[in-house]
Amino acid sequence: MATFKQIKGFVFDLDGVITDTSLYHTKAWRQLAEKLGVTWNKDLEEGLKGISRMDSLELILKTGGKENDYSHDEKVALATEKNTNYVNEIKQMTPANILPGIKDFLDDLRDKGYLISLASASKNAPTVLKQLQLTDYFPKVVDPASLSKGKPDPEIYTKGAELLNLAPEQCIGVEDAEAGIQAINAANETSVGIGSAKTLSAADVRFDDTSQMTLANIEKAMA
Ligand code: G6P
Ligand code: MG
Repeated sequence: MATFKQIKGFVFDLDGVITDTSLYHTKAWRQLAEKLGVTWNKDLEEGLKGISRMDSLELILKTGGKENDYSHDEKVALATEKNTNYVNEIKQMTPANILPGIKDFLDDLRDKGYLISLASASKNAPTVLKQLQLTDYFPKVVDPASLSKGKPDPEIYTKGAELLNLAPEQCIGVEDAEAGIQAINAANETSVGIGSAKTLSAADVRFDDTSQMTLANIEKAMA
């Protein structure tokens, strides 16, 4: 692992780290899954975190043994239906939806001169940042449409570091999803996981929730 002194930048996931949009993603996917006759379960819910919209639909169909039941165009229509419901849900978001401690952490990073970028697979990330009034904190955002592979592939985290003109060893990636931690590790960045030890056992540093994520705690964990 890199030393804390080497770290110059932070590459953030959005959903489940900055704010709890996973509630809205879950609600919208579950509604679609049940309409298609796919039984929902917790492993499926966890597995959907961090992966792209089309990969999410494929995982849901596979879980229900329905991966061959729909044409490409039908799948696009289903994913669009989910997204319409999701976009409707996030309209109600305000800065009150920022997870505990995140605003202070971002302010601290900015004050201390750390560089910040966003590595979210979500095409709705700019809208969510706007609702949270956090757009100014993220001048560098990886465009998910530019990716050839989604998480757990390292590409999105590699690009997140490149946008900051930093080497991977100089970056910390922050994630709530197993696929995301795998992506950060594969990009040779230091991984900070937010969530349970069961899901995030591969994280270099882990906190149960965002309120514990401070520079002092990260420094301690990396020592
Ligand atoms: C994030 C979320 C996923 C979501 C993906 C795509 O990675 O964790 O649950 O499926 O973004 O989001 P989008 O808003 O583009 O459908
Ligand atoms: Mg996430």
